[in-house]
Amino acid sequence: MNIDSKRSCDVLIIGGGSAGLRAAIEAHDAGAHVLIISKSKKADPHTVLARGGINAALGTMDPEDNWMIHAADTLREGEFLADYERVEVLCKKAPDAVNELVNWGARFHREKDGRLTQRFFGAHTYRRTVFYEDWTGQEIIRVLLDQVSQRKIEIVDHIYITKLLKTNNVGEKEKAPEEIKGAIGIDFKKKEIVRFECKSVILATGGYTRVYAVSSSRIFENYGEGVTLAYEAGVDLVDMEMVQFHPTGMVWPEKALGTLATEAIRGEGGLLLNSKGERYMKNYYPERMELGPRDVVARATFNEIVAGRGTPHGGVWLDVTHLSKEKIMDRLPTMYEQFKNIDGIDISKEKMEVGPTAHYSMGGVLVDINCRTKISGLFAVGEVISQIHGANRLGGNSLLDTVVFGKIAGAEAARLAKEVGKRLKTVPSLPGSNINNQKEFDDGIFIVKEPITFRNEIQELMKYNAGIIREETKLQYGLKRILELKREFYSENNTLKEFNVDDEDVSLTLEVKSSLVVCEAIIRSALMREESRGAHFRSDFTNLDDEKWKVNIYCRKEGGDMVLFKENVKEIKGPLTDLLNIHVKAEHHREFE
Ligand code: FUM
Repeated sequence: MNIDSKRSCDVLIIGGGSAGLRAAIEAHDAGAHVLIISKSKKADPHTVLARGGINAALGTMDPEDNWMIHAADTLREGEFLADYERVEVLCKKAPDAVNELVNWGARFHREKDGRLTQRFFGAHTYRRTVFYEDWTGQEIIRVLLDQVSQRKIEIVDHIYITKLLKTNNVGEKEKAPEEIKGAIGIDFKKKEIVRFECKSVILATGGYTRVYAVSSSRIFENYGEGVTLAYEAGVDLVDMEMVQFHPTGMVWPEKALGTLATEAIRGEGGLLLNSKGERYMKNYYPERMELGPRDVVARATFNEIVAGRGTPHGGVWLDVTHLSKEKIMDRLPTMYEQFKNIDGIDISKEKMEVGPTAHYSMGGVLVDINCRTKISGLFAVGEVISQIHGANRLGGNSLLDTVVFGKIAGAEAARLAKEVGKRLKTVPSLPGSNINNQKEFDDGIFIVKEPITFRNEIQELMKYNAGIIREETKLQYGLKRILELKREFYSENNTLKEFNVDDEDVSLTLEVKSSLVVCEAIIRSALMREESRGAHFRSDFTNLDDEKWKVNIYCRKEGGDMVLFKENVKEIKGPLTDLLNIHVKAEHHREFE
């Protein structure tokens, strides 16, 4: 495959969501020439679907709140798999990150006296979620895009990256760390293959929940493309089994299956009811009812449905009919419109039908606290990375994570690019000679026949065999079938159509390619973790087992194989220790019947 054109920059950002945009702003302000590329249309990344809000211990409603309580809630919700130092960074920097968005023009909701309103989200000790109606993600994208455009940072959309380019330093092949050189991508607008050359790359490509049949991601996003690019380049993946199911996705009509009904509905007083009209959360988590931890509420909801207490379309009821229409229109206007437009339901008068939907991937690429991967110059940020949310994410922490770590990733990538720039002036480079050869460029630029058949089977397979409740037999079957599908996908019988950028099977092929890597990693990790922790629930190992499993599970590419190993989670030290001991005693009782 010929390379049609070439683009150069200092920092290449792959992904146009809030993590990518925030990183771009910081890298630009540090003096780097930045280029943002995205698979989805400009201004329409997955972030626009983030509804309910962004967390910061601002204490506007509950002055007792502080960053340490926020961090304790985050670690506890993640069942202590997260890296506590990163959680400290996240929560300490949260107030500044939110205030920065406000200063840039974010129209977050305010009380009559001018204080920012903060609402409850599940499993938070205090009200700490700041919001713009019920489309906070879109508001954040609006504000960040404005900053990007003021700085004249270029965004090129409809680009699908197929491969990262890397090389060793000239003359030090054995010892030197590998170094990023750029990427190869398909430009669907210009209908050409592009080679991007740069000094740093930031992966801000989102998660992998679309490998499930029912997901809150749209059909064209979140197949784990960034996770796969990093893995193929030699970066380890961590805690891939940790997939969060949100309790309330739409279950009807079919075309809306999985679409998010925001947690803000419950934060504003929405009730979950089974077909008998019972608030069933009283049987699972009476302390917090509908605002219990997401994993518990999702499994409780699933349990009600399989126990035969579900709604006509296989969900449960979410009810806000006791709230005033005025409050619904002030706090939940998008939800009002969504149910009205899609299902003809007036939520101020009728109940919503909802059920669990794959929503967030806590697992992902291994990075350090500064978003660096082990490949020099390759950074990652946002949902693509691991170890910030542990085994389960607090609602409202993902938007926060994108802006806090986006800023860090941008600064680090610009700094590295500057260093590389200086070095290149003194060390003569060998143009192209150490970069992967032409044949390897071609990797990822192919089309298989009928990729949709693969995609549909994978999504159903994951739903039934590696979904919200897992057990060994099903996981083993799922793994066997994924490996068979992988063989079929790459077999000579299956391949290949002649490559043509216009063919709609191009993206589908690439999405299947990523899905196969991601699903193998999810299932292998889920099989390995013989306990239940956070979002990972094994019906054959129902207890949380700290003695054996307070570990992170790693997936590494060795030759053509995926190899797994585990490492103990870093012991928590410093100011959080005492606070967490209190919480552990009070709250650590998540067994599920
Ligand atoms: O339900 C929601 O609005 C989701 C928020 C989140 O996942 O952070």
